[in-house]
Amino acid sequence: MPSRMAALLALALLSSFASAQVKLAATPPMGWNSWNWFAEKVTDKDVRQAADLLVSSGMRDAGYVYVNIDDAWQGTRDEAGNLHSNDKFPDMKALSDYVHSKGLKLGIYSSPGPKTCARFEGSLGHEEQDAQLYASWGIDYLKYDLCSFHNGVMRKEHPGDSPEAMHLQYKMMRDAYEKMHQALLKTGRPIVYSLCQYGFDSVWQWGPEVGANLWRTTGDITPTFDRISLIGREQAGLARYAAPGHWNDPDMLEVGNGKLTLDENHTHMGMWAMLAAPLLAGNNLSQLTPDIKAILTNREILAIDQDTLGKQADRIYAEGPIEIWARPLADGGSALAIFNFGEQRCYLRGISLHLEQAGAFRGWSARDVWAAKELGPIDDSTHFTIPRHGSVILRLSK
Ligand code: GAL
Repeated sequence: MPSRMAALLALALLSSFASAQVKLAATPPMGWNSWNWFAEKVTDKDVRQAADLLVSSGMRDAGYVYVNIDDAWQGTRDEAGNLHSNDKFPDMKALSDYVHSKGLKLGIYSSPGPKTCARFEGSLGHEEQDAQLYASWGIDYLKYDLCSFHNGVMRKEHPGDSPEAMHLQYKMMRDAYEKMHQALLKTGRPIVYSLCQYGFDSVWQWGPEVGANLWRTTGDITPTFDRISLIGREQAGLARYAAPGHWNDPDMLEVGNGKLTLDENHTHMGMWAMLAAPLLAGNNLSQLTPDIKAILTNREILAIDQDTLGKQADRIYAEGPIEIWARPLADGGSALAIFNFGEQRCYLRGISLHLEQAGAFRGWSARDVWAAKELGPIDDSTHFTIPRHGSVILRLSK
């Protein structure tokens, strides 16, 4: 009997471990990341201020809980190989305690290569040591960025672009991501694992195998509508790879950055929500205007992003600059988005909404999400006027 008891206990432990794993990033992670605004200049003070502002703006309560320090926090390694933060971050544990005391979580950044993209110290050869260090600081999220592992390691070891060389390079890349995955597991701390290798080797096909909770699908975003809309449109076909615990990441939000117009900010946010994308605000929270705050904290838009079914939208129709994307939702309804990527206002004349492809049927009703307005019964020929670079998001239900 004792052996049976032990087996049962092991089973119970295993299944509670498995469900704890599933709970990590059960919906796309939400928070703030330092890179898009502060880049290499980020300091301890900026991160504390971001934490304060997430709370005072109401963003934390809307779900933005990760405060992620991106590149440029690293100092040098001591003789024992222990990495220290640089002068801009005098005490990581104290910073982590501060962020946690606000009901938030702390994220950090490294690379499988010798150097990060901004040429700070990477984790190559110190994976376990770094993972243990993060855990000792109370880190909850790691963004692991390929950077110098690409040219400095993979391409050096297996030079050239032949299919054989590429195969071996990509194998090294996967192994490097798996190595950090194992190191993170060994800490025993739940740490969201975010792969950043710009979509190489169709990462969405193997990300979950190396423990990724999310993986970047593209190169870097910039705060321009051209770049944002290109990235958004390139996500077509990737919906099948997203699921609770594992998300496609079209990169961090630029909402509120650059010279994006209000319509462009709405379209960016709405598209990322349709895509079940991780929502990491990248703006300067100390300059949060009421308009931008309203976009970032719109509860109905966030509910689409965070829908527990975890089904990312896919494109169901395109005609010139107009695209229609749809996703099923946990309540049996659907979300449908009509995007106008064109340079002119569009009246959708003659463009069918393709409601059946969106999983919606005759007699269904629509709610205009951004307008917070019930539209009543809808059919394929219902007309919408969509401004240049604008969009409409509908929640469809029986
Ligand atoms: C890039 C990455 C950015 C940012 C930057 C930091 O490779 O895509 O999101 O992390 O490195 O150096």
